[in-house]
Amino acid sequence: ARARAFGTRLRAWFRRHGRDLPWRRTRDPYHILVSELMLQQTQVVRVVDYYARFLERFPTLRHVAEAEPEAVTDAWAGLGYYARARNLHALARRVTAADGPGVIPPDPEALRALPGVGAYTAGAVSSFAYERRSALVDTNVARVLQRVFAPSLDPKRPRDLTRLWRIAEAIVPRTGRAAWVQNQALMELGALVCTARVMRCDQCPVRASCATYAATVAAARTTVAKR
Ligand code: ADE
Repeated sequence: ARARAFGTRLRAWFRRHGRDLPWRRTRDPYHILVSELMLQQTQVVRVVDYYARFLERFPTLRHVAEAEPEAVTDAWAGLGYYARARNLHALARRVTAADGPGVIPPDPEALRALPGVGAYTAGAVSSFAYERRSALVDTNVARVLQRVFAPSLDPKRPRDLTRLWRIAEAIVPRTGRAAWVQNQALMELGALVCTARVMRCDQCPVRASCATYAATVAAARTTVAKR
């Protein structure tokens, strides 16, 4: 019941307050993959530029596959972490190989088998490109879920992170379309409201469902009562 109210409120908030970002206007799996690889290392405002420039130079996965690896890392220049660009090139060759799948797969398991694709990126491509009912957890989402549902967990502990993935899977809404919105909304809440540095609970659409908020309010009351 708590998860239902959480999801409904979160998605309604995102529809009103979510940022209009280029990769939220497309379902092209290659475009989504490029955006997610860039966003893992770089702030949104900078990615907007690099994303557009990179896709102008390499409009499709086949363009990447047919290029030399150096051409791809060159276009990635300025973003750093060239391993991502090298992995993207290897991924493009693998997918477009004669015995490859031909397209970026929709299934998280198949995605994870590709070079440079971890659990988060697999969930992101599956949900954001294919609107599958896939969960995704990155640092921001882990923090949000921990604060809302499981304040005693520590996202830095691998065992606890596994638990947070279970929670993320358990709250995926019924339709793929709603799952797309909710996953974007979790990212957005972590970026704008429930950040690592500050919890803007006064602006938070899900504080009524939040264990950390409840504990904060209860602690404040105790302080007042003691005075
Ligand atoms: N960071 C990682 N993925 C993102 C997305 N889809 N939108 C905004 N920020 C993100």
